[in-house]
Amino acid sequence: MGKRHCYSPGQPITTESVDLQNPPVSSEWKLLEARPLQAGRGRLVCVANQKGGVAKTTTAVNLGAALALRGHRILVVDIDPQSNATTGMGIDHRTVQRSTYDLLLDEAPLSEIVCKTEIEGLDCVPASLDLAGAEVELVGAIARERKLAEALEHAGETYDLIFIDCPPSLGLLTVNALAAAQDLIVPVQCEYYALEGLGQLLGNAERVRKALNPELRVAGFLMTMYDARTKLSAQVAGEVRAHFGDLVYATVIPRSVRLSEAPSFGEPVLTLDPSSRGSIAYKLLAAEVEARYRLVTRSSAPPPPPPIPGPGGRGYGVTVAEPVGLDTAWPPQQPWEQEVDR
Ligand SMILES: Nc1ncnc2c1ncn2[C@@H]1O[C@H](COP(=O)(O)OP(=O)(O)OP(=O)(O)O)[C@@H](O)[C@H]1O
Ligand SMILES: [Mg+2]
Repeated sequence: MGKRHCYSPGQPITTESVDLQNPPVSSEWKLLEARPLQAGRGRLVCVANQKGGVAKTTTAVNLGAALALRGHRILVVDIDPQSNATTGMGIDHRTVQRSTYDLLLDEAPLSEIVCKTEIEGLDCVPASLDLAGAEVELVGAIARERKLAEALEHAGETYDLIFIDCPPSLGLLTVNALAAAQDLIVPVQCEYYALEGLGQLLGNAERVRKALNPELRVAGFLMTMYDARTKLSAQVAGEVRAHFGDLVYATVIPRSVRLSEAPSFGEPVLTLDPSSRGSIAYKLLAAEVEARYRLVTRSSAPPPPPPIPGPGGRGYGVTVAEPVGLDTAWPPQQPWEQEVDR
């Protein structure tokens, strides 16, 4: 299939790296029936896409926060040396004593690494800069692909869902996450190059599934940064939906300035600005995930953390107004069903 070099309204968006006529998703990936969670057996969910900046971290943090605020026990494991999920949850990665590095290389017990966040029920395994060396150090280790799986073996007894925020690569850290998880969520940015590399990601996941982790499956593709003001967003969402069908979450995450500001305050947008579009979108996604897993909402949802004290909040962020039109531009319920204006 030839590579198209420019966006042409109405034409299929395809690239050499993923042949959407024959998507590299085996039939087993499509077994989407909800696998209800059993008490004391939480699910490990890997949030991965080797493409950078597609909202892996934003999704792990805000979906995790939304589920915690609905009364579920959530752990976010940051395995990215950039430590964005860690800082996004208000933990300073420069000062953490022990991190995912210790979990992977020193076999430290999980309970000694876990940090609480401002949101009750939302815990974090922080990353630190030394994680950058972990990939090299792991190379010589025995069963190097299963270090994370071993470290998180009993996490499901304490947490309902454990999200693993992956780095933008297909290296050993991501392979560890794929080997540990039962489910894979793939955020896909509604941009022209969004589909590039999906083939490699799914191919890698398939190899890990065959060799290391037969339980692994795609839980869903999540369309992110949807800009309802552009035709391109609708077209990308439509293409992905056309080819991956039910594997795509019905919820679409809109582009939102508030979502991009939240990490600078060190908190999820869910508590920074609960009524913003980004918050609403991640709450909708949380409800969808809850329904798919048949998670039972516990009656005692925790109170949200107290408001940010003074300007600048817990971090150093400042808020600015959304660009004109972005606040009102909301992804239609089913963008893929929309007529694309030619
Ligand atoms: N819906 C959105 N609207 C606007 N900005 C967003 C949205 N989602 C994420 N962002 C911003 O886009 C940038 C990339 O998001 P994020 O860090 O979550 O991506 P990532 O896939 O984890 O990146 P990396 O590959 O570097 O780990 C961040 O600045 C984030 O705040
Ligand atoms: Mg990230």
